[in-house]
Amino acid sequence: MKPKIVRSVASLRRETESWRADELKYAIVPTMGALHEGHLALVREGLERADCVVVSIFVNPKQFGANEDLGRYPRDEAGDMAKLAEAGAQLIFAPEPLEMYAENFATTLVMKGPAKANLEDKFRPHFFDGVATVVAKLFIQSGADYAMFGEKDYQQLQVVKTMARDLDIPIEVIGIPTIRHEDGMALSSRNRYLSRSERSQATAIYKSLSQAAEKIRHGTDPQKAMRAASRSLTTLGFKVDYVTARNSETLAVPEPHSDEPLRLLAAAWLGKTRLIDNIEV
Ligand code: PAJ
Repeated sequence: MKPKIVRSVASLRRETESWRADELKYAIVPTMGALHEGHLALVREGLERADCVVVSIFVNPKQFGANEDLGRYPRDEAGDMAKLAEAGAQLIFAPEPLEMYAENFATTLVMKGPAKANLEDKFRPHFFDGVATVVAKLFIQSGADYAMFGEKDYQQLQVVKTMARDLDIPIEVIGIPTIRHEDGMALSSRNRYLSRSERSQATAIYKSLSQAAEKIRHGTDPQKAMRAASRSLTTLGFKVDYVTARNSETLAVPEPHSDEPLRLLAAAWLGKTRLIDNIEV
């Protein structure tokens, strides 16, 4: 069945309040559209956990820096609708920017903790405040029981969990493993910026992270393994922003010789495209 599409907060609330009146549990899947199988995995998992799923499609201007790709970010509402119908989502919330940010909008969340881990935040300083602000609005607007987020954006997942906990928003934030192409490359709306040859080169990010994880499991010092991964990406022509091992919950730099759970995270430019990925050890 075709999902219903709403564009105002008032009509979103009308729909979700009727679910609530029927004692249905529902999940929200926040997205910026240009949907792929990664997004659809979140929808499917939402339908496993809950009775209904609302997908938001909103290219959030507050999380883009002045020199970033807001203007050219891919948009395909008709394609997104067809994919969401197929995946079984019941409701789509696709507001215009003025519905989310009225002219006198004056509130921004300022995130610390995992938002200041010297990872994405170092290269995109206002990104997580923009993400946390829009996601808090979506949580409050929808009143959803569950929120589905991808581990693909691992730091974002930790920031959103922290925000919901700190603001006492009664929603369970659930992380979903990264959906990958056969060659290991993580699905991303931004992959379409890559040329053909860049796309085949890009798989090196996942490969170098996997090799580092393997070495760490066999006893190599994590930072040493990550330095080798970074060097190999640089040699292959990437401009590396970071390639590092972190505590998988706090994202802090791990203590030497400790047995804390680790996450390996990387961000690197290939030509004009910035790619991120991460894996567990
Ligand atoms: P967007 O990049 O559209 O991603 C929406 C959700 O899909 C995020 O939770 C992201 O982690 C997840 N996702 C993307 N690629 C994935 C993959 N290959 N496998 C599994 N999940 C994947 O992230 C955002 O939008 C925005 O920052 C948003 C949270 C919507 C706030 O504006």
